[in-house]
This record gives sequence, C-alpha cells and structure tokens, in this order.
Amino acid sequence: MSILRMGIIGYGGMAHWHQERVRLVDGIEVVGVYDVLPAQRQKGEADGYLAYPSRDALLADERINCVLVATPNHVHKENVIAALDAGKHVICEKPVTLTVADLDEMIAASRRNEKLFTVHQNRRWDHDYLVAKEVFRSGALGEVYTVQSCLSGTGGLINGWRAFPEYGGGMVYDWGVHFLDQLLDMIPGRILTVFADLHSVKNSLVDDYFHISLKFDSGLSVITELGTFMLRSKPRWYMAGNGGTMVINSFDGADGIITKVSKLAEAVEPVIVQTDAGPTRTFAPQPPETREDFPLPELIRDKTAFYRNVRDAIAGKENLIVRPEQVRRVLSLIEAVFVSAREGRSIPFEEKEIVWRES
Ligand SMILES: NC(=O)c1ccc[n+]([C@@H]2O[C@H](COP(=O)([O-])OP(=O)(O)OC[C@H]3O[C@@H](n4cnc5c(N)ncnc54)[C@H](O)[C@@H]3O)[C@@H](O)[C@H]2O)c1
Repeated sequence: MSILRMGIIGYGGMAHWHQERVRLVDGIEVVGVYDVLPAQRQKGEADGYLAYPSRDALLADERINCVLVATPNHVHKENVIAALDAGKHVICEKPVTLTVADLDEMIAASRRNEKLFTVHQNRRWDHDYLVAKEVFRSGALGEVYTVQSCLSGTGGLINGWRAFPEYGGGMVYDWGVHFLDQLLDMIPGRILTVFADLHSVKNSLVDDYFHISLKFDSGLSVITELGTFMLRSKPRWYMAGNGGTMVINSFDGADGIITKVSKLAEAVEPVIVQTDAGPTRTFAPQPPETREDFPLPELIRDKTAFYRNVRDAIAGKENLIVRPEQVRRVLSLIEAVFVSAREGRSIPFEEKEIVWRES
C-alpha cells in the first residue's frame, strides 16, 4: 500500500499539474477527488480516480490519509481545517491563506490532530532559484549587497478568480508569495524593514504590479518586482557583491553569467573617459581585458522533490522542508507589504526577534 494516499479537493488547473507529477513518485497515489463543479468531478473520474459527491464523503474515506487542497485561495482555510479534523495530513496550495490569524487556526488544527501540514511552495525547487541560492551561498560574488528577483509579463490581464480580492486575487498573493518564500529561504537573518508599492495597471480590483524592498540586518538590500504589463523584460535574477555580479535571465536558470574583475584591473590606471553620459572616471567601462566571465553552476533538476519530502516526512524518515512557521513568516511579511503600500511608508519588521515560532 502507498505511504501517501491522496484525496484532492479542488480539481482544477493546479490539481492536474499535481496528479501528473505524483504519478512519477513511488509510494504516492491519488485515490479520489472532490470539486464543487460536477464537470470537474467528471474529469477526475475520466482521469481514473474516484469522484466524491461531497467534501465530507472524501474526508470520510479511510483509504485517504493525505488531502491536497487546490481550491481558490479564499477557501483554503475551511478545507484545510476540515481535513485535519478528519484526521488527514494536509498539503495546501499557496498562498496558504490570506491572513496570519487564519493561518494560526490552521496550524492549531494541525497540532491538535497531530497531523502533518505543509504548503506547496514548489518554487523552492525551481532551477533558476536553486542556481541563485547556490551562487549567493558559495561566496562567488564576495559579500552580496543587493539581490533582485523580477518577473515581467506582457498580457496585463489576470484571469478568473485571481482578478478579485474576495477570492484572494492579485499578484502579491499569487506570485509574491513564491518570490518572498524563495528570498526568505535563501537569505539568513532578520528583516529590519519592508517597503512596498502596488499598482493596478490593467486590473482595477487587485494589484497587478508590485515592488517590494526588504532591508536585512546584515545590510543586504533585496528587491522583488513583478508586473503583468511590462513589455520589456528585466533579468529574472540580478545579484551584486563586492567581488562580482550575477545575472540569470530566465526560469531555466542556465541562461546567465557571473562576471568578476581580474587581478589585471589593479594595474590599470583610472582615467577620465568620454562616454555618452559625458566625461567620467567612475562610470568608465571596465577594460575588457580586466573582466572575467564564469558560467552559472550546473545543478541537478528535480521535479518531484516536494512530494518525496512529504512522503518521507509522513513516514518519519525526513524532516519536513516547507514548515508552517516558515509559511507564517512569509504571510506576516505579506501583511506588512499591504500595510506599507496602503500607508506609503516603510514598515519595521522583526526588529527585536524573528516573529515566527518553531513548531
Ligand atoms: N504552486 C503553484 O505554482 C501554483 C500554480 C497555480 C495555482 N496554484 C494555486 O492552486 C490553487 C488553485 O488554483 P488553480 O489555478 O488550479 O485554480 P482553478 O480555478 O483552475 O481550479 C480551482 C478548482 O477548485 C474548485 N473549487 C472552488 N471552490 C471549491 C470548494 N469550496 N471546494 C471544492 N472545489 C472548489 C473549482 O471549481 C476549480 O475546479 C490556488 O490556491 C492557486 O494559488 C499554485
């Protein structure tokens, strides 16, 4: 019998994504699905699963020991708590929910039922992110003083429930939660301040552009910026340290470069150069013979690490990687993002101690 026998609540786009990957992992199977829409339940049946007529019927099936909640964001909380109270382990889609107060109720349900509770922060395993984290931690850039994580889209429009605040729509909840989770996973230390600017460029009801700026106690500046209507792209990652600069251009994580200055530079006298910006010594181009370019590190790609970790954590063989207290820290930060954007000021964060608790 499989270790992880899954029931899926909410059989839409993301649920399909999950079931395709789960098929690749030993010891995990999807038993059945429930969706409010009959058509989606029929799709579940066509994919070879049981389709339950109600959420309670799914939760009552003793063959299921783990529930994946893949509904729109505003109903994550009620489904997660119902599943935990039914004695199931739970994987919830991101964003886990919309407020820290709601998340605390979910964490309390997990503790009182002594069941595993995790969130599908799958972008911790994205290739571009793993390469950025490796470069950051390796010291290849010396002491890093700025990390920038950006994404620009050209479509402008946000589809379906994501365009409405009452369903937990908007880009901070949709993508910001991934980018902040990655940055907090990568960078050690406390965040002293957060400043955020949100715009509704093409979608009047929710944010479709964000610029979030974090200051860490190490002095590191972090920017994450995303827009759905920015017709020219920035690199996915930009990172600069006192020993070099790194660019990663796309999610693939292979297209990019690390640039450093060679020892030769010490021998080159700084001279005033005529540039388009006028005469300058400070912004004179680095002589090509003093630049050294290095390829990005090559890392193994892994599409199923999240599921294997949940399976092995349930079996007591591994520690859970995406832990509730980490998810709580990110959601606290998102709350500060909305306050900062509303009030137009920088918000102190984690001034004295890390606000999240170890579970
Ligand atoms: N981790 C990721 O990379 C990633 C990517 C996309 C979506 N998501 C998340 O997955 C979740 C679902 O997104 P999606 O794109 O699949 O949306 P979707 O609209 O395609 O699917 C959601 C499904 O949930 C069903 N549903 C709605 N309310 C329900 C309820 N109360 N009970 C049962 N079913 C219900 C809908 O009928 C629909 O079939 C969201 O939380 C979203 O943020 C995560």
